[in-house]
Amino acid sequence: MSTPAKKREIFVTNALPYANGDIHLGHLVGYIQADIWVRFQRMRGNTVHYVCADDTHGTPIMLRAEKEGITPEQLIARAHGEHARDFADFGVAFDNYHSTHSPENQQLAGEFYGRLKQAGFIATRAIEQFYDPVRQMFLPDRFIKGTCPKCSSPDQYGDNCEVCGAAYAPTELKNPYSAVSGATPELRQSEHYFFKLSDPRAVDFLRQWTAGSVMPASAANKMQEWIGGDGENKLSDWDISRDAPYFGFEIPDAPGKYFYVWLDAPIGYLASFVNFAGKHGGIDVSRFTDPAKAAAEGTEMVHFIGKDILYFHALFWPAMLHFAGYRTPTQLCVNGFLTVDGAKMSKSRGTFITARSFTEQGLNPEWLRYYYAAKLNANIEDLDLSLDDFIAKVNSDLVGKFVNIASRCAGFIAKRFDGKLGESDAAALAPFGADAVAAVTQAYDNRDFSLALREIMRLADLANVYVNDEKPWELAKDPAQVERLHRVCSTALNQFRVLTVLLKPVLPALAAQVESFFGVAAFGWDDLSQALPAGHAINTYQHLMTRIERKQVDALLEANKESLVSEAPKTAETAAIETVAAKAGVEVAPEINIDDFGKIDLRVAKIVSAEHVEGAAKLIKLQLDIGEVVDGQPRVRQVFAGIKSAYDPATLVGRLTVMVANLAPRKMKFGISEGMVLAASDESGEVPGLFVLSPDSGAQPGMRVK
Ligand code: MSP
Ligand code: ZN
Repeated sequence: MSTPAKKREIFVTNALPYANGDIHLGHLVGYIQADIWVRFQRMRGNTVHYVCADDTHGTPIMLRAEKEGITPEQLIARAHGEHARDFADFGVAFDNYHSTHSPENQQLAGEFYGRLKQAGFIATRAIEQFYDPVRQMFLPDRFIKGTCPKCSSPDQYGDNCEVCGAAYAPTELKNPYSAVSGATPELRQSEHYFFKLSDPRAVDFLRQWTAGSVMPASAANKMQEWIGGDGENKLSDWDISRDAPYFGFEIPDAPGKYFYVWLDAPIGYLASFVNFAGKHGGIDVSRFTDPAKAAAEGTEMVHFIGKDILYFHALFWPAMLHFAGYRTPTQLCVNGFLTVDGAKMSKSRGTFITARSFTEQGLNPEWLRYYYAAKLNANIEDLDLSLDDFIAKVNSDLVGKFVNIASRCAGFIAKRFDGKLGESDAAALAPFGADAVAAVTQAYDNRDFSLALREIMRLADLANVYVNDEKPWELAKDPAQVERLHRVCSTALNQFRVLTVLLKPVLPALAAQVESFFGVAAFGWDDLSQALPAGHAINTYQHLMTRIERKQVDALLEANKESLVSEAPKTAETAAIETVAAKAGVEVAPEINIDDFGKIDLRVAKIVSAEHVEGAAKLIKLQLDIGEVVDGQPRVRQVFAGIKSAYDPATLVGRLTVMVANLAPRKMKFGISEGMVLAASDESGEVPGLFVLSPDSGAQPGMRVK
């Protein structure tokens, strides 16, 4: 390997979960992603301070506590315990799990406010808002309901209609009522505090900041559009105050006014770090938060967040940091949303799966860590937990390929060689050396975990080929082959060891079992440069991982159908932003430009043949003609399409459709798939079925679709 670069020092955070909801598998996407990255960085010898906290303030939490007949403090204390345990169960190992309702956070929030005010970024003005005269409080948009002004559907929220998708102001609702008390709300004036994002200094700063490489390009483009070009000013001032009663921090110089939850929430990252440093000597937080020191020392500040809270982290938060004299984030890592079997998580289907139910049903959290990792990359893509695929992937990769190597070889070492390794085959270990390690290292570093795991599984395949070719179980029968048996088993176990080190960021608990099997100290990346030598004593092999059974997954769905987890409504601002982003209920993928689109070669294709695939539950094998000629011969493409649930193959033959002609060929269990046909489906799962696209009549095979 090349000479090691200067060790990195990274302050890493995950988004702070709201204290009024259970941790579910959707949340875990981002937490597991960050945890894997943190573990990887540490294994390489880098220093990471990894913190999180509960996000405890706001109206929903206040009302939820009231409904349960407890104080908000009691509610957030309970949530803190539950969340900390859920994260620990899934191996998400924060250095500190704090709370935004903490003295550190109150102190910092006051300091931010004071500095922003000093710099001229705070303004006040009166706004008119709905007020609940019974409950005697101003109502966030989400707590006002009424009849949709567009389609007249009753009982719609104050910011958008779930029936027709219209977005509007609560004042436009017909017959509005308070969702808290049922009373008819009154419009009342009140003075609010604003962070002046429309200040030209803020606009200039954000225009520049979002143009860097701090966030994925698709996110940066979206932010640029949000900010507007030179001479434009699309940012409005941000309302950072709420009137009493409110569960939060009172604004220092404004009695009865409280910081809006999203003002103190991200400050909670710093508060958790300060709290951590207070408990553990030797950490100087200012090296990570002071702009001059951070620049001089090259420390990093990395936030892992979900795509729904990008605006807060890409606009409000960096502006707050910058104008309060803090360093800004070095990286925003943004994850997409989880779907289960292709649809939004749903309580009625039992796919709104809590972290707790997953462990209580006896499922192994490392199965989920592996599956998520296998699907994660650095792009903002939604991630589908396809339950059949989950079972198949874990069973085939982890149990069938990985664990299998050790289970087939360890016994011989114990029984025949006194538990001691022998010499290894250098040639068989060579593919597990520096080049492979470098590829995996780079993939992890870039958060392309899917690529890292593909590379690791390629190596696992090699190890299995080696064991299958050498057949230790045959060698064991022949006394003349005893030395070879020793060598083969030692080599395979060394291959297995490399795989374990490489998988450790994803599977820390399993790796710990393997460490004790080998009788070695905790694996680090350095262990990859050398094999275990002849004479090294290993311990008895204990089975490392069981297969997932479909019935376990069914029981999990069943358990979640019963569970009465209720997700609190998003705060008004989040909901409003989401509505803008998701007009008419459809959430469109991040914007691309015409060049991006141009890379996709879409062709009219004629389905020459279509047949069932033996043993495949979802696939139909298609032969497609797009008018290609290779070596003077017409060429047809073989494509496996997951449309069996919706089509009888016989009805497909002869019809025209549209295919992606330049998709990299994909090796599937049943053969190579050389493209993809286009089909539509309802992502929410409400309208069942799949609909293959067809061109209008007259189109010919091979025509380009643009
Ligand atoms: N409290 C705010 C974050 C404040 S950060 C200063 C919040 N909380 S949350 O509980 O709603 O979400 C916590 C994290 O989980 C966010 O990053 C959010 O994007 C993520 N997810 C919540 N539901 C998710 C899915 N269904 N799928 C993937 N990530 C999801 O937002
Ligand atoms: Zn409507």
